[in-house]
Amino acid sequence: MSNTCIIGLQWGDEGKGKIIDVLANEYDIIARYQGGGNAGHTLVINSEKFVFHLIPSGILHAGKKCVIGNGVVIDPCLLLEEIAGLNKRDTGEIGNLFISDRAHIVFPYHKKLDLLIEKQKGDLMIGTTGRGIGPCYTDKIARTGIRVTELYHKEYFKDKLKKNIEEKNRLFVNVYNAEPTSWEEVYKEYSDYAERLRPYVCDTLELMANAARDNEKILFEGAQGTLLDVDFGTYPFATSSNTGASGALSGLGVPPHRVHKVFGVMKAYSTRVGSGPFPTEIEGEEGDQIRAKGGEYGATTGRSRRCGWFDGVATRHSVRINGVDSAVITKLDVLDDRETLKICTGYRSGNKVYENFPADLNILSDCEPVYEELPGWMADTSQVREVRGLPQNAVHYIQTIERYLGLKIEMISVGPERSQIMRR
Ligand code: GDP
Ligand code: IMO
Ligand code: MG
Repeated sequence: MSNTCIIGLQWGDEGKGKIIDVLANEYDIIARYQGGGNAGHTLVINSEKFVFHLIPSGILHAGKKCVIGNGVVIDPCLLLEEIAGLNKRDTGEIGNLFISDRAHIVFPYHKKLDLLIEKQKGDLMIGTTGRGIGPCYTDKIARTGIRVTELYHKEYFKDKLKKNIEEKNRLFVNVYNAEPTSWEEVYKEYSDYAERLRPYVCDTLELMANAARDNEKILFEGAQGTLLDVDFGTYPFATSSNTGASGALSGLGVPPHRVHKVFGVMKAYSTRVGSGPFPTEIEGEEGDQIRAKGGEYGATTGRSRRCGWFDGVATRHSVRINGVDSAVITKLDVLDDRETLKICTGYRSGNKVYENFPADLNILSDCEPVYEELPGWMADTSQVREVRGLPQNAVHYIQTIERYLGLKIEMISVGPERSQIMRR
């Protein structure tokens, strides 16, 4: 078995959490490499629901090493809440958590700035999760961010935090007409978080290097989806990290040859939370029905997810960029009562049909999708556990997507539970 990178092929929420949980048993290490508290990865085990924002989704497997890599931006308050939440529940023995000393920290001023920037954008707001992700990555790139390791040098941390907050306060007061923040309180609060997180903090580069030496198998856990990638997504309606397989390298400090397989997760239809172009969006009653059946409400913010038909153009773009080897299709069951299904195979704009995903948001926003229509199966698939038990039209739907993407769909998920999955 090889090291596998699990990534979302759409706009996030494809069911990555469930798939990681299902596969975790076959690996030694489950490692998050980018994003932060904006992620919401759901696991449902015997009707009990767990949502992880920062903790890797393999944590419910006893003895597995769960790593939060240097590429993740960590809100320590949220992480401590997640740890406390896990400890409170009767989950049995869980995995061991390791936090990179190189990861950047999300501070209250990042979250405040996230909301203020959004508000100022008005109609052009991204619809961020408000978790401070953009401002924290901005500071990282501007080289003013504070890393986990710095929390443990008291005087140095105090001076740097004070400077950062003074600078942010100038922005809050002079640009955004908002209240300034007191650095003393933040210093106290974060010094306390630092002590509580100390047992988990380590040099994860060493851990990953030792894993290579010892032939331990790694499951890389991507957050968000490729269409939210800061380079390849619908920029600027994107997140602030590289969500694809390339992010695993920089976000954990592993060399390229150690990612042996890229496994894509995609829903049988499309969803997106927040603003930005969505060519196959279904407005009105049919979209509402899919949202209701699919429970399409954000795991992090509770916002309604916009729903649309399977977008072959956008998903093929994700497959190509990431060199996806094979994939899982999730939420097939949500389409059980659709009489007709549509797969988008092109975007018509002016007198041109685009078969490759364009960078130009004007095309993405105004294009008319070209659809291939397929008959639905009008039968319950949620109880099916073997591919040969699937209705013929469901198999046809999956094969059509496979053919279009040039990709093998290795697994099919028909419900949120661990057991509701089949391998081909
Ligand atoms: P992630 O961010 O990619 O981990 O996905 P989310 O957890 O945000 O959203 C996926 C939602 O779909 C969660 O509520 C899952 O419990 C649920 N889910 C996952 N796979 C399936 C499936 O095959 N069928 C149905 N009906 N729900 C699923
Ligand atoms: P998981 O890992 C779906 C979206 C936000 C917004 C944009 C930017 O659960 O799939 P940000 O807070 O990152 O600056 O917001 O990205 N977004 C997600 N959408 N799933 C996610 O994560 C997301 N993380 C961010 O809704 O449109
Ligand atoms: Mg999610």
